[in-house]
Amino acid sequence: MTTTKAVLQVGPLMPAVQDSITTEYGAVRLPDNADERATFLAARGAEFGVAVTSGRFGVGTELMQQLPNLRAVVNFGVGYDTTDVAQAAERGIAVSNTPDVLNDCVADTALALYLDVLRRISTADRYVRRGDWLSKGNFPLATKASGKRVGIVGLGRIGKVIARRLEGFDCLVSYHNRRPVDGVPYEYRDSLIDLARNSDVLIVAAAGGPDSAGLINADVIEALGRDGYLINIARGSVVDETALVAALVKGKLAGAGLDVFAEEPKVPVELLGLDNVVVLPHLGSGTHETRADMAQLTLANLKRFLDDGTLETPVQ
Ligand code: 8YV
Repeated sequence: MTTTKAVLQVGPLMPAVQDSITTEYGAVRLPDNADERATFLAARGAEFGVAVTSGRFGVGTELMQQLPNLRAVVNFGVGYDTTDVAQAAERGIAVSNTPDVLNDCVADTALALYLDVLRRISTADRYVRRGDWLSKGNFPLATKASGKRVGIVGLGRIGKVIARRLEGFDCLVSYHNRRPVDGVPYEYRDSLIDLARNSDVLIVAAAGGPDSAGLINADVIEALGRDGYLINIARGSVVDETALVAALVKGKLAGAGLDVFAEEPKVPVELLGLDNVVVLPHLGSGTHETRADMAQLTLANLKRFLDDGTLETPVQ
């Protein structure tokens, strides 16, 4: 097998990463245009040993097949559901992500959505801007955020930080995971329906990918009920978006706070007119500090792979 250290950039990357991989490693950018991409891959696909990408683009099934000498995928972002990890495992292709460094910011975003949706902060802001405070008087009452029963779906790195923050709001936290997590003071529920039924708010923090696709389905949403709220900072794919939109439109759910969607950057148009829904443009990790840490870890993974064939933070 050919061993090549040539680096391919797949999708846009933040300037610090893009500049560094271009100047230090001579990375070549995969064309975005489908026709140009096909020509490029047919001519040069075999040149590349490493792909640097982000969770948004990834190295999917077809692209990976067109890179016969690929040895590593270095992913900017903790989520790597856009990369075909099954094919990577089969072909011995190493994959890295950027875990932990973004836990705080993604958890902060979950809490921001939690407070915003229950206390109707964004709606109230619009109320003031429209002049309604002057013309209509006091803003309608909202829902108390402290002391709620909160169910966390996926008590991993980020889920645990969310849970810790919720303790500060005197919330009763329980969770659902593939298996119970050792050493946490929260109640484990092995049934997601059971978790939803016993929660005022469900926060989705599970990893994306085939195993979790559509996990939050119509039955789970129904179990959460018309007084329940759903927060999703994970991946749009974890929630059956059609079922969620239907429940919100019919008033079968009290509200939702969403940072992620099934087909980003598209947001279901039905949600845009609903004041009990807060929609964000997938900004969970989007702070200067955290993105700088993610960039550093991405580059550390790339450097180490090129130096000795291992990764700082491999995913499997
Ligand atoms: C990034 C994310 O915005 O890390 C993740 O999985 O969803 C975000 O932090 C995204 O990966 C960048 O493409």
